[in-house]
Amino acid sequence: MSQSYNTVFQQSIEQPEEFWGAAAAELHWYKKWDSVLDSGNPPFYRWFTGGMTNTCYNALDRHVDEGRGNQLAVIYDSPVTGTKERYTYREFRDIVALFAGALQSRGVRKGDRVIIYMPMIPEAVVAMLACARIGAIHSVVFGGFASHELAVRIDDCKPKVIISASCGIEHGRVVDYKRLLDFAIELAHFKPEICIIKQRDQLKAELNEDRDLTWKQSLLGAEPAQCVPVESSDPLYILYTSGTTGQPKGIVRDNGGHMVAMKWSMENVYNVKPGEVYWAASDVGWVVGHSYIVYAPLLHGCTTLIFEGKPVGTPDPGTFWRIVNEYSVAVLFTAPTAFRAIKKEDPKGMYMKKYDLSSLRTLFLAGERADPDTVKWAEQMLQVPVIDHWWQTETGWAIAANCQGIEPGPIKYGSASRAVPGYDVQVINQEMEQLPRGQMGDIAIKLPLPPGTMLTLWKADVRFVESYMTSFPGYYQTSDAGYIDEDGYIHIMSRTDDIINVAGHRLSTGAIEAALCEHPDVAESAVIGVHDDLKGQVPLGFLVLKANVDTPETQIVRHVIEYVRENIGPVASFKNAVIVERLPKTRSGKILRGTMRKIANSEEYPMPATIDDPAILDEIREALQTIGYAVNSRSITRET
Ligand code: COA
Ligand code: AMP
Repeated sequence: MSQSYNTVFQQSIEQPEEFWGAAAAELHWYKKWDSVLDSGNPPFYRWFTGGMTNTCYNALDRHVDEGRGNQLAVIYDSPVTGTKERYTYREFRDIVALFAGALQSRGVRKGDRVIIYMPMIPEAVVAMLACARIGAIHSVVFGGFASHELAVRIDDCKPKVIISASCGIEHGRVVDYKRLLDFAIELAHFKPEICIIKQRDQLKAELNEDRDLTWKQSLLGAEPAQCVPVESSDPLYILYTSGTTGQPKGIVRDNGGHMVAMKWSMENVYNVKPGEVYWAASDVGWVVGHSYIVYAPLLHGCTTLIFEGKPVGTPDPGTFWRIVNEYSVAVLFTAPTAFRAIKKEDPKGMYMKKYDLSSLRTLFLAGERADPDTVKWAEQMLQVPVIDHWWQTETGWAIAANCQGIEPGPIKYGSASRAVPGYDVQVINQEMEQLPRGQMGDIAIKLPLPPGTMLTLWKADVRFVESYMTSFPGYYQTSDAGYIDEDGYIHIMSRTDDIINVAGHRLSTGAIEAALCEHPDVAESAVIGVHDDLKGQVPLGFLVLKANVDTPETQIVRHVIEYVRENIGPVASFKNAVIVERLPKTRSGKILRGTMRKIANSEEYPMPATIDDPAILDEIREALQTIGYAVNSRSITRET
């Protein structure tokens, strides 16, 4: 912490090659890069071109070779199954190498795709690192997504192998992953050659003999695989995230830039040292899980935790504190919604008092805006700095944070702090003029983005350019809006598209609308995100029925809710819908979702100048009242 934030930040922007070149020197390369930053084909920037490396080698073998072999690499703690396991770096390296050998023996090679659809068990992390070891590209699909979403991903990335488990455990119920997987494969046009299934005691899956193997069977006769050197810019993984259409975006991450950013962030953003226990209480299905359960802590030589449970109910709101105490967690990272859940059940922090939390230095929050009440409560209860930081699946690591390893600044509630070195964050208007401090606008990041951010969208370079690089040429469009204040602190206020954030999970209203419209009685639908005290936002559907429908309305609503759960998955938290005569639209036919959202949230709204018929807004208000919304919003002025 010898340099000021301003010095480090300026250097990262003005001399990115020196800056990231120095960071890369801390990792192992089979062949050094020819150039740190290749700007030859904007906006497709590439980091460490010509360099050859292996992410798994750097995450596991390197530590064994450098004397860290007996240190714990991974702790698995599963209150839902009553299991605890610990693995040293050497043990985990050996397990990963053997499973990588099993994949190789089934024909998986560099560049092949492997889908991982698993609960939070060690095998999920083993599978990810095994792919990295042999240069295969993993694509983890979050377990809370159901068959249709999984099928869309299968068709997009065409995996040779799918790795899954017989089941997961959610709120005491056994989730039959294998049934969901089988149905997804049935729905998908592309069929994987092999499925490897981890059989769990809670439910044994039936195997399809022509296609399926158990995890154990896959290991029979396998030899440990060596690390396969890959190009720095070869893909490490594809992670699908919600776009504004029903088709998810396959974010592609490279090997070299990613590992450099991951390692650098551990020291500089999180101020954590090799050997310490770092816990990201998330899921490997999300970007936070990829970056901070798996790659960053292991690349940095920390001990990471795989937690199969919830902040509350497994068994009580003291679970997080038991774990911090039991494993001496130094840094905890989770989503604000997890803290809201704990606060709701244990407002006075009585469960915290039962445990020794002296190891905990810092709490980091991300995934959604950290509301000041929750941040203050967590600070007061834990007596450690609570750091909100802002990032996206696309970037893979924090864009704004109060960098604890550089020069921590004061904490400002409601702000994710200053830009992280490497990110030239600006607030601009449609004419691409920088807005004065304090003024709201689109948040954009001047290109090039730092290492670790996305390379492109899987097999969709044009969509990549159109989605992110076209509205503001020379910039990455974050689709978040907000402002930068006098002190350079960034305040993220909202999305500028139809993405909603439910319990820290990013969802596309477009995908839910598409599912609603598949109901035979539904002519048209709109989905908005409404405020929820626990989850931040939850989706709410509006349905316009076809003419002469005689199915009872309550039945239609029940069916669409079940349909979304079966198709998109329980993670959509889609539990509420209302039938309306018509939807408010502009004269050109665009649904006024923003205005509907404001009405549902009882916020004031400007009457849209282009609205086709203002009376529809009264109908929307009345419909919301019928399902229990205390709607008292009103229009303020007519927009001109
Ligand atoms: N497999 C199957 N189903 C899953 C699942 C998984 N991996 N993850 C979630 N679900 C299900 C849940 O069981 C729930 O089902 P239900 O409708 O029957 O209750 C539904 O999907 C919604 O899940 P969620 O929104 O997570 O709600 P929850 O009640 O299970 O938990 C919180 C609420 C706040 C405790 C939980 O969301 C949480 O801890 N969030 C932390 C956020 C996080 O990890 N974010 C990642 C980015 S940091
Ligand atoms: P995801 O890609 O799932 O990580 O979601 C990214 C989106 O979540 C961002 O574009 C923001 O809208 C929101 N988000 C993430 N972190 C924060 C934060 N700290 N403050 C405000 N919004 C956030």
